[in-house]
Amino acid sequence: QAPTTAMRLVMENSPLLRFISLTVPLATFLQAMAVPSLQEQAGALLAWKDTLESHPAQLQSWGMGNNSKRPCSWYGIECSKHQASHQEVITKISLRGLRLRGELDALNFTALATLTSIQLSHNRLTGRIPPGIVSLRDLRFLLLQRNQIRGPLSPALASLKKLRCLMLQQNELSGEIPRQIGELENLVTLKLSINNLSGPIPSELGYLKKLVRLDFVHNNLIGSIPRDVGNLTKLT
Ligand SMILES: *[C@@H]1O[C@H](CO)[C@@H](O)[C@H](O)[C@H]1NC(C)=O
Ligand SMILES: *[C@@H]1O[C@H](CO)[C@@H](O)[C@H](O)[C@H]1NC(C)=O
Repeated sequence: QAPTTAMRLVMENSPLLRFISLTVPLATFLQAMAVPSLQEQAGALLAWKDTLESHPAQLQSWGMGNNSKRPCSWYGIECSKHQASHQEVITKISLRGLRLRGELDALNFTALATLTSIQLSHNRLTGRIPPGIVSLRDLRFLLLQRNQIRGPLSPALASLKKLRCLMLQQNELSGEIPRQIGELENLVTLKLSINNLSGPIPSELGYLKKLVRLDFVHNNLIGSIPRDVGNLTKLT
């Protein structure tokens, strides 16, 4: 009992602790407030659609008629309730194999910060992996295989801590595999095959304890397979 009472006295008499107990719920509240509205999210998708050089029939449902302000019913778009704010938000984009031609970087990821899954494989997307993608803290699936995406893999991708599946095979990626890839500790699938990646295989791969599938074939990697890969006991 004694320590509890002492703690309470400290709490009641410390302006700093009182300040913290007031500001923590406030921070949670502000975070919920910062969630983009469905309308802003719809606007970001429509703005991106405008930049595309191809106009697949499936995207005609975007922004048309009665559904113009309800992106949750658009082709390839899925919504869910956001945990902190309880508002409906876009969580998934699935536009596989629509021959989309354009830049992924033209999509406003600030407005789409609530995404948990991006499935845009088998298209003709060009440009780099958008730097803004690293702000998608809930992203679990990033599937961009079979496009024409260029440039390096940014070390900043390490901030996608919830990522389980990273599929970037059959693109035009170059540069080295950043050692920060070892920070993506929830990765189950990592496919980087058929690109122009060079340099050594980072030993930090050994930290990806949940990894089941790993594919690096057809690149310009050099050196040996790091010993640490032997720590990946789930790898098949
Ligand atoms: C991207 O979306 C955010 C949030 O909705 C908005 O504040 C910002 O202006 C948008 N950026 C562009 C370039 O449209
Ligand atoms: C792999 O296991 C060895 C032996 O237990 C350990 O020394 C090494 O630090 C581990 N590597 C990684 C990347 O976890």
